[in-house]
Amino acid sequence: MSPFALTRTLPLDATAAALRADVATGLTRSPKELPPKWFYDARGSELFDEITLLPEYYPTRAEREILVARAGEIAAATGARTLVELGSGSSDKTRHLIGALTALDHYVPVDVSESALTGAARTLLAEHPALTVHALVADFQYGLTLPGTPGPRLLAFLGGTIGNLRPAERAVFLAAVRAELAPGDALLLGTDLVKDERTLVAAYDDAAGVTAAFNKNVLAVINRELEADFDPADFDHVALWDTEREWIEMRLRARTALVAKVPALDLAVHFAAGEELRTEISAKFRREGVRAELAAAGFELSRWWTDEAGRFALSLSVPVSLPV
Ligand code: SAH
Ligand code: TRP
Repeated sequence: MSPFALTRTLPLDATAAALRADVATGLTRSPKELPPKWFYDARGSELFDEITLLPEYYPTRAEREILVARAGEIAAATGARTLVELGSGSSDKTRHLIGALTALDHYVPVDVSESALTGAARTLLAEHPALTVHALVADFQYGLTLPGTPGPRLLAFLGGTIGNLRPAERAVFLAAVRAELAPGDALLLGTDLVKDERTLVAAYDDAAGVTAAFNKNVLAVINRELEADFDPADFDHVALWDTEREWIEMRLRARTALVAKVPALDLAVHFAAGEELRTEISAKFRREGVRAELAAAGFELSRWWTDEAGRFALSLSVPVSLPV
């Protein structure tokens, strides 16, 4: 069998239909809102990789520090033969894990971005020619079905991406992940932690404007896919810390009143001056909250590690039966 296979559970026309539906509902309601997965076309994936290198964006460095320090412990605790990774992107940090998992023979990266998956597989197979990479172009929020690779399986969800889901979505997501796992499998979850507002806001509003360009990329995706005529220069990037809900909220704020046409939907989208389009949340966590959300989905938190500075956490959990 070839060491690289790519499976699409997201047919291209279904993707187009989902984008149309999301734009049709999200841009006609108040407040206007779009789901974050539309950031990640090839350009969006590139911009995200640039974000991970920014001086203000600490999560990637903090999580890498933990992975480097703990990869051996994770390998010993799990003995994984299959590593599944949701929202794997460039798989760059994952290499520390793959290098340490001595029993590993299958890697299953799952992402909506096909360009990120093929790029990551090329790099990984050069380093680990014996590894079988089964890449999955899929939406991890809907109908997650994993290939029947050998156990034990370690399912990794890194980067704090779980924080991009709302609390109710997280509950559904974690329950679906739990349903895919058997006794002996484990979940490795990366969560960014609550900290001072200034550090948090800077991580999502960098001085070089890369995050602003990333946020505005969603307009370029709509322009290209639905022949719309958004001018990204008409919008300002906004990142706010919501103290109550403990999440960062990203928005695009119209600089003036404007109308954007979306011919593919026969739609004219009106923005008042200063009106905001909500594009993304990034929730920040505390240990007790993570433990409780995992427990509600049928996981028991077994290990909790942070970086030296206590900015980011990586946790290892095992499936247990649900409390009755
Ligand atoms: N794990 C990497 C990338 C995090 S960025 C890291 O830690 O640096 C989030 C990744 O999740 C992107 O690669 C994006 O394409 C992917 N993604 C976002 N929403 C998704 C969804 N609904 N289904 C599958 N992948 C998704
Ligand atoms: N998972 C990343 C995070 O929440 C995604 C991300 C980083 C992001 N920077 C962003 C999403 C800017 C939208 C806009 O940290």
